[in-house]
Amino acid sequence: MTIFSCIGILLLLTFVVVRFRSHLPWFRQKARSQDAGCNDLKPPPIKGRERYRVMMDVRRLDAQNWLSIDKNYMAEHQVRSQLLQQEKEKVLQCLPESYEACLEALEEVVEFLCQRFPDRFEHKKCGDESTVHNRMTGETFMFGGANNQVDPLEIAVRLTMEDLSILMKNADEEYYLAASASLFPVGWTVQERIGWTIGQLHNPVPLWHQQVATSVSKFLNRLTPSSSMERSNYFVEVKRPDEDLFETLYRPTTLLEDNPDPSPEDIVVRRERQTFCRLPRTGAIVFGVKTFLTTLDELPMQELRNLAKEIKSWPDYVGEYKGREVWGPKALEFCEKRSQEEAAKEGEKEKEREPEMMEV
Ligand code: HEM
Repeated sequence: MTIFSCIGILLLLTFVVVRFRSHLPWFRQKARSQDAGCNDLKPPPIKGRERYRVMMDVRRLDAQNWLSIDKNYMAEHQVRSQLLQQEKEKVLQCLPESYEACLEALEEVVEFLCQRFPDRFEHKKCGDESTVHNRMTGETFMFGGANNQVDPLEIAVRLTMEDLSILMKNADEEYYLAASASLFPVGWTVQERIGWTIGQLHNPVPLWHQQVATSVSKFLNRLTPSSSMERSNYFVEVKRPDEDLFETLYRPTTLLEDNPDPSPEDIVVRRERQTFCRLPRTGAIVFGVKTFLTTLDELPMQELRNLAKEIKSWPDYVGEYKGREVWGPKALEFCEKRSQEEAAKEGEKEKEREPEMMEV
């Protein structure tokens, strides 16, 4: 072998390791255990698209942040526990055929959380039985072996900040909602939609069938355990000024509360980070949704401008689906006011700089 072929092989090996490092177990392990604290993820940004289109807009999953723990963990955990106690039928449904997939999803969740946040979660295994302890809440759950009293998906969403669903294929080769723990839904409940196909779930979404249904079905079919993906979505909602976190997060019927004159503090941009992972053993898909709440007055200027651009670009039937008539005029008015304030501030800064430039 010549020196040139040795260099060639070395270069090729380096490329392969750098390009595919997120799939190598050693690198994955290392990435997961890098940070034992929170991974306060930023909410997905509003892009400011000029023209409305239903898009898949999927990208490769940031694997070390599949699941997240942030400063809102305890407050949201309390809402999740309350929901599972008071509204269990509405927020958690698992069809019998999904049991093995739910168990596999729980195993993946526990493995991820214990490696990524070792200070917060602890896993002990004894034969088929497992125990997971959450150091933040003091809760311990047993699963595997003969422990089939509590649904594994319930344990999983009592640990995560994410809502989790299991998608399986029906006899017509279509993906359907076989199990779901959707605690923070917008305008729907799993009680009414369990067993629905992806197409049926999206029937109310304008242009779904014309613009994206076929691509989504191809995308789900092509997903492999090493090609997990993520995407994002946002909704705008109006809350009452005195509303608590439970009421804002759990919106099974409508996005819009009875508040005809909302202030910027009552208009909430609700962003979802959605993840898609194929389970290696059962072949089912785990669909994760992390919800972020930001009120209009908390949005950075650029995102506010982007939101205004998108609101204006929606055709009427899309605006109607999104409830624009309730919050749209107020949101645009607020954006205009903030833009003018920013422009005035910039003008002041310019004036201050002028004398310095004259002296030079
Ligand atoms: C790549 C896959 C997916 C895409 C591109 C997608 C896209 C969308 C879009 C654009 C909306 C409308 C949001 C809005 O503009 O206000 C929506 C709503 C929704 N999506 Fe998805 N979604 C996907 C996967 C899923 C999955 C796996 C589920 C399973 C639970 C799901 C359940 C829903 C539901 C229940 C709604 C609300 C529909 C309604 O208004 O009643 N989506 N989705």
